[in-house]
Amino acid sequence: MRTELAGKAVLVTGGASGIGLACVRAFREEGARVGVIDRTPGDGVEVADVTDDAALASAVATVAGRLGGLDVVVACAGISGPVGKPVAETTAAEVAAVLAVNVTGQFLLVKHALPHLGDGGAVVLLGSDSAFTAAPGMVPYCASKGAVVAMTRALAVEVPGIRVNCVCPSVVDTPMARGDLGDVLDDPAFPVQQAADVARQVLYLASPASRPVNGQALLADFGMSARSAFPA
Ligand SMILES: NC(=O)c1ccc[n+]([C@@H]2O[C@H](COP(=O)([O-])OP(=O)(O)OC[C@H]3O[C@@H](n4cnc5c(N)ncnc54)[C@H](O)[C@@H]3O)[C@@H](O)[C@H]2O)c1
Repeated sequence: MRTELAGKAVLVTGGASGIGLACVRAFREEGARVGVIDRTPGDGVEVADVTDDAALASAVATVAGRLGGLDVVVACAGISGPVGKPVAETTAAEVAAVLAVNVTGQFLLVKHALPHLGDGGAVVLLGSDSAFTAAPGMVPYCASKGAVVAMTRALAVEVPGIRVNCVCPSVVDTPMARGDLGDVLDDPAFPVQQAADVARQVLYLASPASRPVNGQALLADFGMSARSAFPA
């Protein structure tokens, strides 16, 4: 498949680590010009917190100015929040913090990127399989990713000329997942994807190769959610 991303101007948030970093590398391999926003400083990273409206607006304008506009925006900045904590012990502040980064942060990114995105632009948000299936101890995260899927559809119908889709991967071996699951990922009893796997899904949704695909959630979970309870 030809991605036709060579020369395109791409903005990736959360590009200092994990899936975002893999996306930065994958877009560069396709010949795209990539700008990065992250709260963690790094080589070529425009430092901003996606929950800080003014700082994010300024960082998006800086990256778009440097690249001469934007063709693609990828929202990888995200947090997992209090994974493994029962509802009874989870505070309102913890829920608010997860929603602020995973939902409001992605909303603000799209809002500030829109003036720089031309017709035919593509936005890829980071959802998760947690929008569709759940494990105990992840209520705030699951709620945030369900919101990303709904926001993807809402943005897709609101913004003519710009496609908005999201990827919804199952567990990916990144610093975030290592922080939550630890050594389990050294020899997992469940399928695990690499950040580069997700980057390829993002490339597809960012590319004109997916031209008719809009407002969709690409659930990539090795078929785990497809299994019915039927005993066969
Ligand atoms: N790792 C998984 O298993 C998995 C599965 C499905 C979806 N996701 C989603 O993929 C995205 C990336 O996750 P990852 O696993 O690569 O995590 P990661 O922790 O490796 O990387 C996340 C990056 O986002 C940045 N970031 C976090 N909060 C920020 C903020 N407020 N402002 C700016 N930057 C911020 C971090 O500095 C980091 O560089 C997240 O939205 C996550 O929910 C991850």
